[in-house]
Amino acid sequence: MTDSYSYQSNAVPPQRAPALPAGDYEFFWGAATAAYQIEGAAREDRKGPSIWDEFCGIPGNTLDGDTGEMACDHYHRWRADVELMRELSLRAYRFSVSWPRVMPRGRGPVNPTGLDFYDRLVDTLLRAGIEPFVTLYHWDLPAALQSELNGWLNPDMPAIFADYAAVVVERLGDRVAHWMTLNEPWVVATAGYFEGVHPPGLRDRAAGYRAGHNLLRAHAYAVAGYRASRCGTGQISFALNSSFSFPASDSPEDAAAAQRAVENFAGWFGDPCWFGDYPAVMRERLGDLLPAFSAEDAALLRRSMDFIALNYYTSDIVRHAAGAGPMDAEVVTPPDFRRTEMNWPIMPDGFRELLCWLSRRYGGLPVYVTENGAACPDQPDEHGYVDDQDRIAYLRSHLSAVGAAMAAGVNVRGYFVWSLMDNLEWCEGFSKRFGIVRCEPGTLRRIIKSSGRWYAKLIQSARRGAVALAAGAVP
Ligand code: FCB
Repeated sequence: MTDSYSYQSNAVPPQRAPALPAGDYEFFWGAATAAYQIEGAAREDRKGPSIWDEFCGIPGNTLDGDTGEMACDHYHRWRADVELMRELSLRAYRFSVSWPRVMPRGRGPVNPTGLDFYDRLVDTLLRAGIEPFVTLYHWDLPAALQSELNGWLNPDMPAIFADYAAVVVERLGDRVAHWMTLNEPWVVATAGYFEGVHPPGLRDRAAGYRAGHNLLRAHAYAVAGYRASRCGTGQISFALNSSFSFPASDSPEDAAAAQRAVENFAGWFGDPCWFGDYPAVMRERLGDLLPAFSAEDAALLRRSMDFIALNYYTSDIVRHAAGAGPMDAEVVTPPDFRRTEMNWPIMPDGFRELLCWLSRRYGGLPVYVTENGAACPDQPDEHGYVDDQDRIAYLRSHLSAVGAAMAAGVNVRGYFVWSLMDNLEWCEGFSKRFGIVRCEPGTLRRIIKSSGRWYAKLIQSARRGAVALAAGAVP
């Protein structure tokens, strides 16, 4: 098994962490979820259907026909779930608001019962000492916006999204200080429009870049609305997912290919939200496939992130290969590289490198790791208890990488495990488990795994600031 590679970083010299004064700032230790993956109650209390409800309803689209109809039934069990978070010593919780629960048709009438649900959740979290981090769009587009307007391909979507965002901000903004507009627009564009494996199921690259473009504009409109609103005193960004690409050799060609790959991945959505335009390498190599921003949109996009929200799982090794996609970069990660159940290579070094890369590129902004975790082949014992040492090893090595990035000067302010509990992993259904808490199939009973207990201890020991983490002293 290959579990190391020859790449040596110049960017981050191996150095010990400077001691951070304890309690210097609050480090948000948390866990993350998303509405469609945990809530269930897909048709309750006047919630409208989302594109994911419809997609999962079509046989063959998800493994074993699994759907989010019931999911973890969090919509009914949310009080107990907040208790669970308290038991885990969480300081923060990242969740998403279901757009069709709040606006059943995506625009027009608001469903007060839907808004009430999130309102109560926020209050209960705050009473439990848990800081809410809210994502406005984690992929569950109201189905009516897809059927009536062609979803993200419609240039009017940014204004429609901003209206929805304003409704949620108006209701929760007095208590929520950390917002994310979109979750992983990269995945929406690539899985939904390049590969057709997520709704709306297109296989059309030009459409994917147009959808990505409108997602960026939607983010910018919502951010502008937020900042102008009476509650807009908090921080707002979007959750960016990326891997880091290591060059396969010392050759300058491979180094350049790896650099292009990172710019094309992280920079596709990161650059516009900081610089107001796509990376030059994308413009040069994608030509007309990449739409242009109007001057007004570019101005709205520039500096439209107050922090970097990074979702990190894996990285790759690439070499220069003419014709291997627009970046002439081919992934050559060995097939026997250690991987998680998702078949994603386990590369904590890529995490450190990416954190440093993003921090350098985007002005040293504060960083929140808004997702990181692993799907593992959990084997519950007769009591339903899961001793997931593999997940602990993954989390430990990735937290050490965060510590190394902090030691190199990256301003990391929080870390959210994906996920609080086992849930509906999109097309993979319930077969892939990321939770630090088991959600027992059938009974939906919550049982804290070894990783959950380990994480709680870590949080307790690092409570005052992130000293242990920065020093690389993750037990
Ligand atoms: C991310 C998604 C999240 C979850 C993890 C495993 O891409 O944001 O919902 O499915 O992957």
